Amino acid sequence: MGKKLLTENINVPGIETFEVYRKNGGYASVEKALKTMTPDEVTEEVKKSGLRGRGGAGFPAGMKWSFLDRKSEKPRYLVCNADESEPGTFKDRYLMEKMPHLLVEGMITGSYALGAKTSYIYIRGEYMYIVRILEKAIDEAYAAGFLGQNILGTGYSLDLYVHPGAGAYICGEETALLESLEGKRGNPRLKPPFPAVAGLYAAPTVVNNVETIAAVVPIVNLGGDEYAKTGIGKSTGTKLISASGHINKPGIYEIELGLPVEEFIYSDEYCGGIWKGRKMKAVVAGGSSVPILPADLILKTAKGEQRLMTYESLADGGFVSGTMLGSGGFIVYDETACIVRNLWTFARFYHHESCGQCSPCREGTGWMEKVLHRIEHGHGHSGDIDLLVDVAKKIEGNTICPLGDAAAWPVASAIRHFREEFEYHVKYPEKVKNPKHFEVEP
Ligand code: NAI
Ligand code: SF4
Repeated sequence: MGKKLLTENINVPGIETFEVYRKNGGYASVEKALKTMTPDEVTEEVKKSGLRGRGGAGFPAGMKWSFLDRKSEKPRYLVCNADESEPGTFKDRYLMEKMPHLLVEGMITGSYALGAKTSYIYIRGEYMYIVRILEKAIDEAYAAGFLGQNILGTGYSLDLYVHPGAGAYICGEETALLESLEGKRGNPRLKPPFPAVAGLYAAPTVVNNVETIAAVVPIVNLGGDEYAKTGIGKSTGTKLISASGHINKPGIYEIELGLPVEEFIYSDEYCGGIWKGRKMKAVVAGGSSVPILPADLILKTAKGEQRLMTYESLADGGFVSGTMLGSGGFIVYDETACIVRNLWTFARFYHHESCGQCSPCREGTGWMEKVLHRIEHGHGHSGDIDLLVDVAKKIEGNTICPLGDAAAWPVASAIRHFREEFEYHVKYPEKVKNPKHFEVEP
């Protein structure tokens, strides 16, 4: 069994309550940090742990914390990004639903380290039932003296609020999230300035993903150096992976970073292999925003090395023969899956969710959706595949926020690795008009 740093107690009956959570060692990091450590010492442990942002970008969390402008006279904020909306990603939901106190504990310890007196959990609107779970946990923490004025008699005070979004994917982009939290339309801001300098209400702010904040708990309890012993190289600790698609055991798994991808897909401890005894065709490893890889390249790098579940190994080969760990939304496709149909579904999503501020994204996502729709439905033209590549290139790197890139990368990679499937659609329009065409065709 792999090591569990976050979910070891997740199946303990009643763990969602303060009483049971506390009996199982909960809130020890708050006691340790507030009573025996300075805020800078807590930040130092997070730095030593090597923890990287678990929302998708993998930016070193301790470094982000140390960028926070501590000289500013404005208040400082810790904002938890719980706007989990990346297609294929549902791990934060699991953590918040089952162990809300783990997030509340991480928010208190993290806020202390950053000197925040008010902190927010911005959660996607569709998770309304989790808002209630979190609010109950927060009420319990206030009642037990872990939130509010003079926490545990240490002189440190913190108020914590849950703020639901209204259903826009783009509000998961950190600056759009901050706009939305301020009560405005969730349009991404140009960076720099980064939120660490000018974030919520133009004050220094750290925005961290749910899982990142939860990981602060074992880091403070164990110490950064000890935490860093789990994992491999610059990918330290554990990662929650939401596995879905054509596998025998879809679900959420906490894996030790460094696990071979092959073991993750085929062992009974994790995905349990491809369903119905079929062959694997492709994998999207880190949520829909990352390049798709064919079966051979997800198991082994282009150099023939075993591919590991780490930030570095999955990215080996760049975007020619590699991908990204991203948010850990691991989608597996079997041999009957239609890559064109899948890509059209992704393109529809990005077009719908584009905020429309920049032309390459607003217009480009629309064009990609239209062209993919006609290819998938048997009305493709001979130049359409190159047109898609061209539109994707024009979006990439030319937009305010990463949604544009996120829409372009899957298109570029799917055509790179599965071009013949697109050509088949254009060449045999009558065959692909059958919605189950790839279950009956090669
Ligand atoms: P990013 O690489 O621009 O930034 C990462 C973080 O580091 C940000 O918080 C940023 O403020 C901070 N940062 C970077 N350079 C900095 C500097 N010089 N000074 C201070 N702070 C700095 O990536 P971003 O836009 O935060 O995230 C994109 C990722 O989000 C994608 O890789 C995608 O996988 C993921 N994503 C996850 C979703 C989910 O539901 N979990 C949804 C959509 C995207
Ligand atoms: Fe909006 Fe797309 Fe531009 Fe991001 S890239 S700011 S979602 S138009």
